[in-house]
Amino acid sequence: MTTAAGWRLAIHEELASTQDVVLAAAEAGEPERLAVLARRQSAGRGTQGRAWSSPSGNLFLSLLLRPGGPARALPQWSLLAGVALADAAAAVLPPGAELRLKWPNDLLLGGAKCAGILCQGGVDTAGNIGWVVFGIGVNLAVAPALPDRLTATLAQPGALPPEPVAFAQSLMATIDLWRGRGLEAVRDAWLARGPMLDTPLLLRQGDTAREGCFAGLDQDGRLLLATPSGVVPVSAGELLG
Ligand code: BTN
Repeated sequence: MTTAAGWRLAIHEELASTQDVVLAAAEAGEPERLAVLARRQSAGRGTQGRAWSSPSGNLFLSLLLRPGGPARALPQWSLLAGVALADAAAAVLPPGAELRLKWPNDLLLGGAKCAGILCQGGVDTAGNIGWVVFGIGVNLAVAPALPDRLTATLAQPGALPPEPVAFAQSLMATIDLWRGRGLEAVRDAWLARGPMLDTPLLLRQGDTAREGCFAGLDQDGRLLLATPSGVVPVSAGELLG
């Protein structure tokens, strides 16, 4: 189906992973604005090589964009997905809900993870972004148990949980909105929804862990970590805690 906002949205009862379908389409030259949604996934993938629990009722969506521009801007596209997701989530929650982004773009509700994004990009031979795939998982109805953190859903007491296709359509429209506003506005919006400056952070990169404080985002959208030896830009890794 084609959505009101002009995305080509394919809806499946079950897929192994929407991400694998859209990655294959990206590699095969499919034009941008392809969206693939599955009602459930049998082999959903998260960041850091983890599995992503994918029961019916939650959102499993992968989106293909071809924004062009230099490869170093890839982290900014990841931030854009996070900001758009935070806005789409806010739209189904009561005003004042405690939504925050955790770098790179976990979405926390009341401090518990309610959504995550697996952002993957391909660079062409000229060093430009060939494609970006946002794999978005949102706990709309079910909060799967995670070993290392609290989880939450967007469902509100006494109300039906948000419906996945309607939520996906709102999210695609929000992504278009932020794309139109530009990457500088995205960075500012991420900062407004992210941690406070100077928040202590513990970053894991492979087998090493690094302590520091949040010092903002740089021009390319990388996390700035203030450490005793200076401010370090970070483009990969995971924040613990
Ligand atoms: C995370 O670990 O926080 C990111 C989770 C991303 C899950 C989504 S669900 C849709 C898409 N398909 C997948 O297999 N993974 C992503």
